Amino acid sequence: MDLIEANELSMSYGSFMAVKKCSFTVSKGEIVGLLGPNGAGKTTLMKILSTQIAPTQGSAKICGNDCEANPKAVRANIGYLPEHAPLYDDMEVREYINFVANGRGLKGEWLSERLSWVRKRCGLKKVWCKPIGELSKGYRQRVGLAQALIHDPPVLILDEPTSGLDPLQIIEIRGLIKDISKEKAILYSSHIIQEIVALSHRIIIINEGEIKASGPLSDLIEQAKDRVDVHFSINDLEKAQNDLESVFTSLIHYQIQH
Ligand SMILES: Nc1ncnc2c1ncn2[C@@H]1O[C@H](COP(=O)(O)OP(=O)(O)OP(=O)(O)O)[C@@H](O)[C@H]1O
Ligand SMILES: [Mg+2]
Repeated sequence: MDLIEANELSMSYGSFMAVKKCSFTVSKGEIVGLLGPNGAGKTTLMKILSTQIAPTQGSAKICGNDCEANPKAVRANIGYLPEHAPLYDDMEVREYINFVANGRGLKGEWLSERLSWVRKRCGLKKVWCKPIGELSKGYRQRVGLAQALIHDPPVLILDEPTSGLDPLQIIEIRGLIKDISKEKAILYSSHIIQEIVALSHRIIIINEGEIKASGPLSDLIEQAKDRVDVHFSINDLEKAQNDLESVFTSLIHYQIQH
């Protein structure tokens, strides 16, 4: 079942086209990584899917609801971690998460259950009663994740979820994303190859607003094999990372040269 559907999405900022006719789907149980260099259009695509901005062309659906026609239903089904999470520095973490939970309509037992779940799974125990303004970058990112997950949405859109985290935190958050992925459709962005290889069932490579390739890593390597020397081995993570790096740089360089 496709929970995220992007249909020929385009976005222009004035005369500049940041996203050009992007189509893809993400189904329940899938983690899809959006890989692209700075300025590729990843955040713009995610803003469209989470109803922050309207596309100049094309359409998108979340759980069958059109992003423009039915934004309320879309928002109810989405947990969105923005690139720069708008956190309230004067609020304590627990106040802020409660505030978001109330806005999401969580009440009673369900509310306490979800609060204790995010407190534990997003690693917020230590900072639960601290003002957000006093938190390190990594902990702010965890609060951002907690607000995206509080209502246990079927769709997650995560813009660079591990940005600013230390290596141990990265492993924990990757584990968390994997654990919850069975019942959800997850689209996340990154420009870190290792991140994409470690988490994604499918990869979408985007550059200058266009999808250059998409599919499981093995398919991407197959598609790019005429241009790059890669030998994919499913058991060899380091090799897989190197291979994806070759595919990625080849696709990006290919575009620059042609
Ligand atoms: N509000 C805006 N007005 C004008 N141009 C914009 C606006 N937002 C983004 N852009 C431009 O659109 C392009 C895509 O930006 P976007 O933020 O989507 O890229 P990204 O892939 O998320 O990059 P990064 O990896 O650096 O986060 C960039 O060239 C950017 O400068
Ligand atoms: Mg971005």
